[in-house]
Amino acid sequence: MTLSAGLNIRAATASDRDAIWEIFRATVAPGDVFVYDPKTPREEAEAYWFAKGTRSYVAEQNGKVIGSYILRANRPGLGDHVANAGFMVAPEARGLGLGRAMGEHALAEAGRLGYRAMQFNFVISTNESAVHLWQHLGFKIVGTLPGAFRHARKGFVDAYVMFRSLEKA
Ligand SMILES: CC(C)(COP(=O)(O)OP(=O)(O)OC[C@H]1O[C@@H](n2cnc3c(N)ncnc32)[C@H](O)[C@@H]1OP(=O)(O)O)[C@@H](O)C(=O)NCCC(=O)NCCS
Repeated sequence: MTLSAGLNIRAATASDRDAIWEIFRATVAPGDVFVYDPKTPREEAEAYWFAKGTRSYVAEQNGKVIGSYILRANRPGLGDHVANAGFMVAPEARGLGLGRAMGEHALAEAGRLGYRAMQFNFVISTNESAVHLWQHLGFKIVGTLPGAFRHARKGFVDAYVMFRSLEKA
């Protein structure tokens, strides 16, 4: 698979739910990148991905959804000027640049919506492609949570808090 000029990142609709669920299920199953239980039922996954106040997006190529991300306020009330986002690329589409494309899209959306910064609360330290990608997009590791994630194969591993300002210098 390669990414084509036909790649389109857009707001998710109800008709994307099956595809999003398939990607979510495949992403949590190995127990190595997301905190959600590998056996998370579909209703819970959808309640999270389509929660009130959460914007959901999909990346579609040739009519097939191959990735999705969510964008929301990281905290309510007086913390709601900082965005939070979550990303997942279908396993067969990883390593092709889609994570980067969705990351750039999310940063642009967050800027458009008036957020001042973006924060990731729980990036698994062993998730090399994610850590590399977020650093590439200007995020800094601002905190390390020792042993906060119980990796299915590696046991207790650190999780990072990563932060990036959206303010123009
Ligand atoms: C993390 C994830 C979103 C990245 O998306 P992707 O489409 O696979 O990544 P890309 O092809 O855009 O690559 C992004 C960067 O990571 C690098 N990269 C890709 N795979 C890598 C790996 N296994 N190890 C190190 N770097 C890697 C790429 O070279 C690229 O670097 P560059 O921007 O300097 O060229 C995707 O792999 C995924 O969905 N993983 C499972 C869910 C997840 O981890 N979500 C994020 C949680 S914080």
